Amino acid sequence: SAQNARIKIDVDRTIGEVDKNIYGNFVEHLGRCVYGGIYEENSPLSDENGIRLDVLDAVKELNVSITRYPGGNFVSNYNWKDGIGPKDDRPARMELAWSRLESNHFGTDEFMAYAKRMGTEPYFSVNMGTGTIKEAQEWVEYCNVKSGPYYAELRKKNGHEEPYNIKYWSLGNEMDGFWQMGHLNAEDYSKKAREAAKLMKLTSPEIKLIAAGSSNYRPNADPNEWNEKVLHELRDVIDYLALHMYVGNVENNYYNFVSSPLVLEERTRVVKGLIDREMENADRGNRPPIYIAWDEYNIWYRARGEETMAGTKALEERYNLEDALVISGFLNAFIRNADIVKMANMAQLVNVIAPIFTSEKGMFKQTIFYPIQLFANNVKGTSLDVHVDCETYDTGEFFIGLGESTTIQKDVPFLDVSATYNNGEVIVCVMNRNKDKAITTDLLCQEGIFDGEFEVYEINGSDIKSENDFGKTSVETKKKSSLKVKKTDKITYDFPAHSFTMIKGSIV
Ligand code: AHR
Repeated sequence: SAQNARIKIDVDRTIGEVDKNIYGNFVEHLGRCVYGGIYEENSPLSDENGIRLDVLDAVKELNVSITRYPGGNFVSNYNWKDGIGPKDDRPARMELAWSRLESNHFGTDEFMAYAKRMGTEPYFSVNMGTGTIKEAQEWVEYCNVKSGPYYAELRKKNGHEEPYNIKYWSLGNEMDGFWQMGHLNAEDYSKKAREAAKLMKLTSPEIKLIAAGSSNYRPNADPNEWNEKVLHELRDVIDYLALHMYVGNVENNYYNFVSSPLVLEERTRVVKGLIDREMENADRGNRPPIYIAWDEYNIWYRARGEETMAGTKALEERYNLEDALVISGFLNAFIRNADIVKMANMAQLVNVIAPIFTSEKGMFKQTIFYPIQLFANNVKGTSLDVHVDCETYDTGEFFIGLGESTTIQKDVPFLDVSATYNNGEVIVCVMNRNKDKAITTDLLCQEGIFDGEFEVYEINGSDIKSENDFGKTSVETKKKSSLKVKKTDKITYDFPAHSFTMIKGSIV
């Protein structure tokens, strides 16, 4: 019979520390993410503050490290001042990015109360589209200055005595996109962002800033021209460059689709190269390095029709098993690039291309809920540079997602693997891309030996198209019987067809 596939684990071959902020998420004022998602006034499922308690319970299971707010495209025409103070006095506005009436009943203070209940770090995005650098500064003042100036006192007057000390702020969203309200070219964006950064940092010196990298990977775009320019102009003020990626099984080709996280990895490496080059030439004093924040990623292609792009039901994508596998591939890719990817935010938290889906009567967890839950609660420590030896395949030319460029992926390994090492424990994450066959694999320990009980978790379903729904869970995490091993350098395991498996145990 053919040789077993092999995964070689060497705790001395390290990539970098896994930053917990790769388990981030995103709440935008879009469709039913906020209204009818995390927040629903007068619902029997909500508390007296309008917080949907069933949703909050599910959100907490995701152990979301950092949550980006309030957009997205929404933020490019948002004035944060509309969303503070007594609710009845807040102005309703036309929401132009996604065609909705924005009541502004949910704003900065409501989000911060929610973030506290979620146990998440807040990450705010300022309006670099129609907003001014002064508005950005005033928002930082409202959130981070203890007392004295007008907006700090206004926060106190609104009932929030202590400053929020929001550490992460992004300088706009997707400013290279022609769809963005107040869209700018790279030069104009850099100028505006640098001046905003100056004011924001003078107000609150400890903040970390994220620049809008390119999100435009359409066939005729040149994303890295934008990235290079922005990195060059903003290198002395930023801590991260933000990148976005949405993929989709546009042509209903499973094997092409499940290779798409490798495209994210390619883009990561290219941008890392740009950052490295820029840093070599820069005299940045004692400033820390610049990292990549994949601050929007997900699968999004079905809900892009006329009826699903805008309004209160916007972007309500339903997910199946192959989507969950792709998400596990994204997470593995973040781990494999742990030296440079220090933040990632699934877009978005509830209803809008999201792991949690609600109705007025209840909610359910979509298939993609399970990989992010499993990773966020288990995968931490040092990312290891594993060697994987398994069969591979080549894709044909395919669309990465709707509106995106095409790619061909060569030598796609059937096993997509990451491994981390944390306090004597190794955590191996394996997606088996093979649709039909289990892959018998030897996990080989190159330094030390495996010992004791290894826990095994699996995400799978009877069919790659299996979906969850209200009252129906076809895809979820199952705890398998653990593997009991006695001081050995080899564990042999059959990774089932179209599955994701996490194995964790000790190396002594
Ligand atoms: O997450 C949905 C949208 O996708 C965001 O608003 C925007 O930033 C991106 O184009």
